[in-house]
Amino acid sequence: MEDIIKDNLEKKSLKREDIKDNLEEKSLEKEENYVVSQSSNSEFYLNAQKYWAKIPPTVNGMLGGLGYINALDIQGSNCFLRELKIKDASKTCALDCGAGIGRVSKNLLMPLFAKVDLVEQDQAFAAKAHEYCVKDSGAVLGYPNRLGEIYNIGLQDFRPDVNKYNLVWSQWVLGHLTDVDLLLLFVRIRQSLIAGGHFVIKENITSSRQVEKDDEDSSVARPLKMYETCLKQAGFRIVKMTQQKNFPKGLYPVYMIASRPLRKKICDS
Ligand SMILES: C[S@@+](CC[C@H](N)C(=O)[O-])C[C@H]1O[C@@H](n2cnc3c(N)ncnc32)[C@H](O)[C@@H]1O
Repeated sequence: MEDIIKDNLEKKSLKREDIKDNLEEKSLEKEENYVVSQSSNSEFYLNAQKYWAKIPPTVNGMLGGLGYINALDIQGSNCFLRELKIKDASKTCALDCGAGIGRVSKNLLMPLFAKVDLVEQDQAFAAKAHEYCVKDSGAVLGYPNRLGEIYNIGLQDFRPDVNKYNLVWSQWVLGHLTDVDLLLLFVRIRQSLIAGGHFVIKENITSSRQVEKDDEDSSVARPLKMYETCLKQAGFRIVKMTQQKNFPKGLYPVYMIASRPLRKKICDS
């Protein structure tokens, strides 16, 4: 089934009217093949869990030993986010996907949004996120009143509330999802956004135009086209895309892609 979805993701222009039918068909297929698909995917997810369980719950751990890029990363994200000119951020809720210990939540989202929810599969990271986001650390303030829910669950199983978030931010985690689960997650995220809401992904992107596997942490890096197509197929339109500047040489190029739902009458009627 994954091949079918992948073929579909790579189709360049799917008519808008086809989006809903197409996704419903795929959801059904997913239900029918649930056991098969879960058992064949479970090793992929299990291996990632095992990998992250060995990583210390620190900023350095979240950044693969490159803790020194934290400030640069947050600064790049901040510029990108401000240019989106999100309305009413100080009164609304954001979601941090694959949040780890809450590095992005505390340093990027909490200074802007009234409440921030986190979703993170690793239990130790989720527990640490509570302390990390709430307490001051050196000059960095904690945000005891801005921490919302911490959902300790894999994104493949996460069902966000509908119409809740003004911003969903997803950074360095989507490579841990299969193509099928990625598309289904994007659809659920679209449904979780309030009117005017944005979805931002910040991910490693391959230059080879191929999917590249990393067996060590059980993840993949995808080409830009795959994210673009998957977002479109999930009912989003891309409104801004920027490559992160000044990261050390030897890393994958990192892109920030902001999307908004296509008009409701097209996707949800
Ligand atoms: C590279 S770290 C990034 C953490 C955070 N986004 C950041 O930028 O600091 C990847 C995170 O994704 C989490 N993760 C891996 N697979 C996941 C899944 N299927 N669902 C949710 N989180 C996942 C890991 O436990 C880890 O916390």
